[in-house]
Amino acid sequence: MPLQQSRPPLPSADKRWKLVNATMRRNGYAGHALIETLHSVQDAFGFLDETSLRFVAASLDLPLSKVFGVATFYHIFMLKPKGRHACVVCTGTACYIKGAGALLEGIQERYGVDPGDTTEDDRLSVLTARCVGACGLAPAVVLDGSMIGKQTSDTLIAQLEELD
Ligand code: FES
Repeated sequence: MPLQQSRPPLPSADKRWKLVNATMRRNGYAGHALIETLHSVQDAFGFLDETSLRFVAASLDLPLSKVFGVATFYHIFMLKPKGRHACVVCTGTACYIKGAGALLEGIQERYGVDPGDTTEDDRLSVLTARCVGACGLAPAVVLDGSMIGKQTSDTLIAQLEELD
């Protein structure tokens, strides 16, 4: 009987990791699933950070250097932003219908940054994700890793203003 390769535990209880894991499982945890898996991370989290890259590398049994190499080679992948705070606005269908566009417009008006950009003082980076797994809370935003649902431009800006 072949030895079952041990998989690393999910990095946290955040259910978005299950979406990422499902992508890898569907591909039999084969190395060729790398790009699809990185897309899945970005769709769920808005960007790729070291935790996610290490998790993907260990799960697919690939050298970390290869995973970093692919993640940085393709411009479509967004690495963890440089701002002290990260605001990921979900632009998936449910959130889009419920006004994600207005959230992005509000941010652009207040801070002058578009998705993928960071404010000049490095205080805030703004990103988008395709579905953060909380469609019932649309429009959803993940602010510094915490899910905040049912936002309006005003409630979101108020929370962003509170950040240091
Ligand atoms: S579409 Fe935004 S959480 Fe699913």
